[in-house]
Amino acid sequence: MALLDTHKEDIERHLAKYPDKHSAVMPLLAMAQEEYGYVTQDAIGEIAGILDLDVTHIKGLIGFYTMLYDRPKGKYLLQICTDLPCALRGAEALSEHLCRKLGIQPGETTPDGLFTIENVKCVAACDCAPVMQVNGHYHENLDEEKLNKLLEDLRREAEVSEPAHYD
Ligand code: FES
Repeated sequence: MALLDTHKEDIERHLAKYPDKHSAVMPLLAMAQEEYGYVTQDAIGEIAGILDLDVTHIKGLIGFYTMLYDRPKGKYLLQICTDLPCALRGAEALSEHLCRKLGIQPGETTPDGLFTIENVKCVAACDCAPVMQVNGHYHENLDEEKLNKLLEDLRREAEVSEPAHYD
């Protein structure tokens, strides 16, 4: 279903905030991501139409802003900071360990749709390096053991929250 069908009032509210409707592009992209989990091709086209913007301009914004996604991401978004203070405390090795454990590379999602890994810049918790965010929640002073335990916990949590399938 289109955003205009489900969020007409919100869209109008955002449009009313700006003298130039192009300026509403970020709130509308955020709205689409909230609604669908990522900014779908249909949503890109719809937003381009609403704001009278070029589709390629919108795709450029999604590519530029790391918090926007144009493809589905895993249930758990693992954002490991590899910026300098975290790197000095072993973040690169930790990221490689994470990739090995999950069998994917940064930017990829596991085939079961559970995990997406991203290497990110400083998340403002350098005093607790190395740091990883899981769906926005901080996990600090990480090492391989803590990381393994965290993955186990997340898998267990996912099992509990997923409805059982019966044939
Ligand atoms: S460098 Fe990793 S949190 Fe700042």
